[in-house]
Amino acid sequence: MPSAASSSTFPTPPADRGRSEAPIQARMMVTALPTLPHTLVRQQAAYKVVDRDVHLDVAVPQLPGAPGLNRQLRADADTAVRSFRRTLRREASKGPGRYHAMTVGWQVLGRSKQTIGIQLWVAQQHGLRVTIDRRTVWYDTSTRTVLTTRDLFTPAAWPAAQKAISGAVGQPLSGAGPVQAALADRGAPGGKAPAFGFTAAGDLAVTFGPHALPGDAGPVSVRLDGRSLDSRLSAAGRSARSAAGAQPVKATPPARVDCAKRKCVALTFDDGPGPYTAELVALLQQRKVPATFFVVGNRVALAPDLLAAVDGARMEVGNHSLKHDELTTLRAPDLKGDLETTSRVIAAVTGRQPDLLRPPYGSRNQSVDAASKQLGMAEVLWDVDTLDWLHADAARVQKAAVRRTRRGSIILMHDVFRTSVAAVPGIIDDLRRRGYTFVTVSQLLRQHPVPGRVYRQQGATRPTVRGG
Ligand code: NI
Repeated sequence: MPSAASSSTFPTPPADRGRSEAPIQARMMVTALPTLPHTLVRQQAAYKVVDRDVHLDVAVPQLPGAPGLNRQLRADADTAVRSFRRTLRREASKGPGRYHAMTVGWQVLGRSKQTIGIQLWVAQQHGLRVTIDRRTVWYDTSTRTVLTTRDLFTPAAWPAAQKAISGAVGQPLSGAGPVQAALADRGAPGGKAPAFGFTAAGDLAVTFGPHALPGDAGPVSVRLDGRSLDSRLSAAGRSARSAAGAQPVKATPPARVDCAKRKCVALTFDDGPGPYTAELVALLQQRKVPATFFVVGNRVALAPDLLAAVDGARMEVGNHSLKHDELTTLRAPDLKGDLETTSRVIAAVTGRQPDLLRPPYGSRNQSVDAASKQLGMAEVLWDVDTLDWLHADAARVQKAAVRRTRRGSIILMHDVFRTSVAAVPGIIDDLRRRGYTFVTVSQLLRQHPVPGRVYRQQGATRPTVRGG
């Protein structure tokens, strides 16, 4: 520790004093952005085309007092649709029979009088090929401009910000490097401009799309510590951060639960995302109940914004195959491709490859076990089957869930049924009254789901049990 004498002999040079000179803390980290309720936006521009082989579902928000933003969002949707139609024409020349779908969905990232932040999801399916791109549009209503990452910073701070981002991405800044090029992109769907937004802690999250940087890295996310940004954000940047509802304080981490000591139970929801997923996430969040969602890849492609809402609410997300096929009927290469594509689609939204697989119908064999192991996923079955798909009756589903639950149980439900979602508040109340703590599957397995192993409740079965 320096003595008072030494610090007075060698006074700190002014340049090193103020906190504005502390380096910007940046690290590579997947960050779910908090979103605001959809109901903040009353209007959207939407159209839908559905026929046998083509499914096109486009919706972008339209906000009063932001004509420039509205134009930009419609233009983004149009650009995406044009690219989709180009692909359709190319594919048509290869012959008929493949399924093509595009969905454009949205979420609100920030909303104040001055600044509006919108996240757009553009998902495409061409046969078994699925891609999901994310784009954010931040709009300053006073200057009527769409903001880039650069606009968030004061001109003096931008070089340091750029350097911090490049450093965290792992590509040292050298001339017009790829990170700089992407940061300089004014942004268009499919372009290189990163998506960005603020966390509840006031950190800035910057995500480069799968094609923005060289190599096959997939999306790359960097998080810049909010405290090191305070004096460096421009007026527009500060306004965007406050529009996101961000306070420059540390977010409280999710509660740690020790399931060796507590009576834990995991709620799991399969087959979504679907029409009732958003409602379910909202009611789980209100009650501070974490849960695990096993999602179907091609349904994620039809509703990436819903999966983003699931992930943003800190729910756990697992793989439930691409098309809900019985995996034991697929040939080995198809099986692996199916699960791989699904994990990639999930990662395009959440930034993380899932480490849990629930095979549809719980149907598995050695090939499924092997593929699951190879792709780094544990197989998660259940010990409490509510049979909610059979009995579309909330009271009956509630009773089934509560009666059969033991310490360490994994409860199977489906969020694609209204009656299942309606049963959830009652299940939560009943099980809490009986002393249960709700956790995700990974928490229940004490964070260590082993790839290729099969779990039906807390604690594992042997690695390759046939049947099930
Ligand atoms: Ni299922």
